[in-house]
Amino acid sequence: MKILAIESSCDETSCAVVEDGRVCFSNIVSSQIDIHTRFGGVVPEVASRNHITAISNVVALALKEANCTFADIDAIAVTYGAGLIGSLLVGVSYAKGLAYALKLPLIAVNHIYGHIASNYLTYKNLEPPFICLLVSGGHTAIIKVKDYNHHEIIGNTLDDAVGECYDKVARVLGLGYPGGPKVDKCALEGKANIVFTKPDNLGYNFSFSGKKTAVINYIHKLQQRGETLPINDICASFEKCAVDELAEKAIKACKNFKIKKVVIAGGVSANRELRAKLTKLAIENGVECFVPDMQYCTDNAAMVGSAAYYQYKAGIGIADFTLAPNPSLSL
Ligand code: KG4
Ligand code: ZN
Repeated sequence: MKILAIESSCDETSCAVVEDGRVCFSNIVSSQIDIHTRFGGVVPEVASRNHITAISNVVALALKEANCTFADIDAIAVTYGAGLIGSLLVGVSYAKGLAYALKLPLIAVNHIYGHIASNYLTYKNLEPPFICLLVSGGHTAIIKVKDYNHHEIIGNTLDDAVGECYDKVARVLGLGYPGGPKVDKCALEGKANIVFTKPDNLGYNFSFSGKKTAVINYIHKLQQRGETLPINDICASFEKCAVDELAEKAIKACKNFKIKKVVIAGGVSANRELRAKLTKLAIENGVECFVPDMQYCTDNAAMVGSAAYYQYKAGIGIADFTLAPNPSLSL
């Protein structure tokens, strides 16, 4: 079954053609990073206008690269939440238009289930159950993936998401937007020699707000004393503190729930240190570790096409033309 999938929840306009949830024929991503960089973050109104300009070309390119026409497509899938309302509206409206004109089923996908499915595209034989460490700009959670469409949250952030925290640290250090990859790059050159403490007694939950404040206070203190900021060391120390906690809790969940597989998903899964740390801890604890291909880590439509296939097979999320975006859709 070939699904044409659309993703437009934030600042990436993307379209993909995916077969049977596992084979990606094309995955076109038109990023607006250059546009939003000058504002230091995503400007929602600007993002929606740019999705409108890009979407037709992105869909045409996805078909071309997949060597397909609309006649080869069996269903249309779209992210309908969570995300920015204006951005989601562009993708949802376009997908509804396509499904109506082509008389094809429409599948409504939760963005987060898409991120989890990015691992099915990378590992053709990966099957649930597994523990998923979900780390993105909007979410930080430990999820027990019992089956393709059966997820249980066992830990969540009590405040900020880890990606949000990376972006904020980058902004205070003047590294620009998006912050995650920039902090990751500086961390590679630095030493983790500053201690930012981890919160206690949170179980599988996380609190990144405190970590963010600790890093910002440290930076401000040095600035007030007129000292040069050891940018690389601050990045390495923050990264170690964040990544250690994420990886340790994910592996602890595997052990306690007796699940022998762990995956990461979401934009922060592109993080070099997190990928390395989780892989190392998994090996030490006899757990199999899966990290998605870099092209499927940050927002893309292929992951949406994969999740949609498993939903369609189970009869879940088949939408009609009343489908509306849900900016605060939960897991
Ligand atoms: O999944 P995503 O593309 O969008 C959301 O669904 O939120 O995640 C975006 C987040 C941003 O906060 C970005 O800074 C972070 O992922 N990110 C990274 C890296 N690449 C992207 N964070 C740390 N290290 C990276 N290499
Ligand atoms: Zn995302």
